[in-house]
Amino acid sequence: MNMSEIAVDAAPGRVDTPDLSARAADFPILSRAVRGKRLAYLDNAATTQKPEAVIEAERRFYRESNANIHRGVHWLSERATDLYEGARERVRSFLNAGRVEEIVFTRGTTESINLVAQSWARNTLQPGDEVLLTGMEHHSNIVPWQFVCEQTGAVLKVVPITDAGELELEAFDELLGPRTRLVAITQVSNALGTVNPLAPLIRRAHAVGARVLVDGAQAVAHMPVDVRALGCDFYAFSGHKLYGPTGIGVLYARQELLSVMPPWQGGGSMIETVSFEYSTFAPAPQRFEAGTPNIAGAIVLATAIDYVLEVGLERIGAHEHALLEKATAAVQALPGVRIIGNAAHKAGVLSLVVDGIHPHDLGTILDADGVAIRAGHHCAMPVMTRYGIAGTARASFALYNNDEDVDALVAGIRKAQDMFGGRP
Ligand code: ALA
Repeated sequence: MNMSEIAVDAAPGRVDTPDLSARAADFPILSRAVRGKRLAYLDNAATTQKPEAVIEAERRFYRESNANIHRGVHWLSERATDLYEGARERVRSFLNAGRVEEIVFTRGTTESINLVAQSWARNTLQPGDEVLLTGMEHHSNIVPWQFVCEQTGAVLKVVPITDAGELELEAFDELLGPRTRLVAITQVSNALGTVNPLAPLIRRAHAVGARVLVDGAQAVAHMPVDVRALGCDFYAFSGHKLYGPTGIGVLYARQELLSVMPPWQGGGSMIETVSFEYSTFAPAPQRFEAGTPNIAGAIVLATAIDYVLEVGLERIGAHEHALLEKATAAVQALPGVRIIGNAAHKAGVLSLVVDGIHPHDLGTILDADGVAIRAGHHCAMPVMTRYGIAGTARASFALYNNDEDVDALVAGIRKAQDMFGGRP
C-alpha cells in the first residue's frame, strides 16, 4: 500500500472551526429537560435528533400530498410520485451518483446490505470464494455475509485492527487475493470513530477483481461523500443518522451491477407482468422496492439532506472534530479513563472505559444528569473482543453539540468516579 495515497485520502477536509451554536435552536427536542436537567444529547451515532424542517416536512406531506405512488391516476398520487422520485434525485446528487436509477430506497443500512447479500452475492459467490470484512464492522456488515457464506459455500476473511483502532493495511493487502469477490468495509467505525482510507483500498480491491460495498451509516452526516470519487460499487446509509426519519435508507449500486441483479423480495410495484406460471420484473430501482415503500420517509429524508447541505458537511465535520478534540483532551486528563479508538483520523466518536465502573453504570449516572450516551458493545461485539472488554461508554457528536455538552460529559465521568470510590 502506498502511504502517500492513504495520507491524501485520509486527510480531513479542514476548515476553520465554524460557529454552529445557533443551530441547536433548529432542534425542538434539545430544549426539553431530561430528568429535570439540561439535555446533553451525545448518542448521535445511534440516532440523530430532527430539525424543525424535517418534522414539518413529514407533517406537510401527510397534510397536503399523501397518496400511494406509481399506480394512481389521480392528482395526489401523481404529486406523491413526483415528490418521491424527486427525493431519489436529491439522494443521487447528495452522493454524486451518476444516474438516478442507481439509488434504491430501503429501510436503512441494514436492509441495503442484506439486499446486496441476497441479490448480488447469493447469485455470484461460488464455494471457496472470499468475502473480506474488517475487524471494526458493525453487526449489520457481518451477519448478512455470514448468511450468504452459509448459503453459497463462500468464506469470510477479516482484516485485523491495530491497538489504535486502525486497519492493519499490510494484512489487507495479504488477505486480498484472487478468490476475493467482495470487500465490505465501513467508512467510519461506530464503536471507535476510525475513518478508513477508502479510496486506495477500493482501488486495491478492484485490482484483484473484487467488488466493494461501503457501509456509510456513520459517515454521511459527518463528511461529504462522493461515490464516484470513492469508486465503490455499493454504498449504504440510513436516514435517521442524517437528521432524517427512521425506517428509510439508501442503497447506491453501480448501474451495471444493479441492472442485472435479481430481485430479492417479491410483491407489488417490482413487477412488469404476473401470471401463475411466472412473473417478469421491473427495471432497477423499482425491482428492489417491493410493496408500498416508505413514501413519506424518502421525501422527508430529502429535506434532511437539504438541511445538512445548507449547514455544510465540511463545517459540520470541523465543528464535531473540535468537540472531539476538546473531549479527548479532557478525558485523557482524568486518571483511570482509557479511550478505545485512537486512530489518527477519527470522526466524532469518543469510546472509553473507566477503571472499576461498568459502562452501563456510567451511562446511568450520566443519564441522571441529562447526559445521553450509549453504553455496551454498540452492535460491534468483535471490536469489544479485540480489546478484551465487554463494552464501552460512547459519546458521539452532531452538529448541534457544544462545549457545554462536553463539560457535562466530563463532569459526569468525574462524578461516577467519586461515587464508585474515588479517582485513582
Ligand atoms: N449502529 C448504531 C450505533 O452505533 C445503532 O449505535
